[in-house]
Amino acid sequence: MSKVFSTLELKKNKILKNRLAVAPMTTQQSNADGSISNAESDWLIMLAEDGIDYIHSSQMYYAAVTAKYSEKTSIEYLRSHITRQLPLVIPGSITSIDDAEKAMDLGADIIAIGRAAIGNKKVPEYFEEHRELPFKTPFSEKHLEETGISKELIDYVKNAPPLRSLNIVQQ
Ligand SMILES: Cc1cc2nc3c(=O)[nH]c(=O)nc-3n(C[C@H](O)[C@H](O)[C@H](O)COP(=O)(O)O)c2cc1C
Repeated sequence: MSKVFSTLELKKNKILKNRLAVAPMTTQQSNADGSISNAESDWLIMLAEDGIDYIHSSQMYYAAVTAKYSEKTSIEYLRSHITRQLPLVIPGSITSIDDAEKAMDLGADIIAIGRAAIGNKKVPEYFEEHRELPFKTPFSEKHLEETGISKELIDYVKNAPPLRSLNIVQQ
């Protein structure tokens, strides 16, 4: 089993067993060049000291760099500044097992898949078999309906202000 899948099993038990996990889900996509603002990274580091259970750092590209240190990815920055063992969940254009392994090599504990999982069925199987996902954004509404995505979710990702800009559904 690959590192991605075995880690998922481990973390699933460790994080969610018998209790509610408390965590911020932050949006680190404000800088036009895709870099990560240090105000946001520093806020996450403070919350980590306060005892949150994990961090989900919403970025558009898993290997995006920080605004302050252009040679450092946000994953590396966060990981090097968080002193205690704290699960780091990282999304951001992960569409293959190679991307997932790279994100984990940078310091992610769990990878999250948003857009690719909306338009593709059985993503874990494709990853495990090292196969390319068949569909890419923007997805047609017809395709999403055939995939089993509800009309409500299609409307939501197509029209809700922050998600609309992610170009998930053909406009
Ligand atoms: C349906 C949907 C809902 C999301 N909701 C949030 C949210 O509430 N807060 C947040 O910070 N990011 C949110 N995101 C952004 C994701 O966490 C992630 O940063 C972004 O989708 C890029 O990852 P991807 O390439 O795997 O989609 C959402 C994304 C999607 C597709």
